Amino acid sequence: MDRGIPCSQIPVTPAILALEGVTKAFGGILAVKELTMGVRPRELTGLIGPNGSGKTVTLNLCSGVYPPDAGVITFKDTVLNGLAPWEISRLGLSRTFQTLRLWGKMTVLENVMTAYGRFMPALFGEALAQTPRARREEAKARQAAIEALDLVGMASFANKMAEDLSLGQQRLVELARALVSKPSCILLDEPASGLRGELVVQLGAFLKWLADERDTAFLVVEHRTQLVMQFCARVIVLNYGEKIAEGSPEEIRNDERVVAAYLGRRRGECRTA
Ligand SMILES: Nc1ncnc2c1ncn2[C@@H]1O[C@H](COP(=O)(O)OP(=O)(O)OP(=O)(O)O)[C@@H](O)[C@H]1O
Ligand SMILES: [Mg+2]
Repeated sequence: MDRGIPCSQIPVTPAILALEGVTKAFGGILAVKELTMGVRPRELTGLIGPNGSGKTVTLNLCSGVYPPDAGVITFKDTVLNGLAPWEISRLGLSRTFQTLRLWGKMTVLENVMTAYGRFMPALFGEALAQTPRARREEAKARQAAIEALDLVGMASFANKMAEDLSLGQQRLVELARALVSKPSCILLDEPASGLRGELVVQLGAFLKWLADERDTAFLVVEHRTQLVMQFCARVIVLNYGEKIAEGSPEEIRNDERVVAAYLGRRRGECRTA
């Protein structure tokens, strides 16, 4: 009788983004301590933990805001240590920020165009001189930006000033900025912050759809545990910079250390809704 493949022999999909023993300190504060974790392709991986537990620092390390003090970060086959943020973004790893970073006085379309990988850094000088190559690249960036805005349902806001949008709409524009160069992995820092009730669930379902349909991996930092528990395939929990648990949402929900450090404290708080 065929009993299927024993658990120990089921191949584990290799991570597209992998951290191995990553450490980062600021003065006396050990923000991230010997962190080993991975983000698998076409999945949502949740990264949760109390305030100050090292979630944003982890995303900053992966996106090249600063280098790790120790350990290795690999994306696909490339070691990211020491690469600049724009070099990492060109490899197909993009991110959004916990604090929104849109240009308020620019239109929504322009905000998304400036995030288009090949457009700004390489061609800035040529763009000023309006060379034919720069005009061609600008047209490509415009088309890609319109498509990304369409994808997140914000195409009709393309010509509005970013500062005139609600917080939730600005978050969607940030997501369009992260999507515009068609990355294979996106780091999201509290994407549901500022969204209410049903919109949190819609965002989670949309991210899951993107993961499947656009072959994109997501590392999602979020305090809205509903989004994490409902849509993430795996969840990693940090506390004081250390990984204290990793597993399926079900395993995490029932993990005593996680409940003691984080989930238990959050019960009854409105941000868990
Ligand atoms: N640039 C920095 N300089 C000094 N200390 C920093 C810096 N960035 C982060 N820290 C410290 O590192 C620790 C981890 O911060 P981090 O921003 O990663 O927390 P977090 O888990 O994202 O918290 P939150 O849920 O509040 O966003 C905190 O003690 C923070 O004060
Ligand atoms: Mg943070």
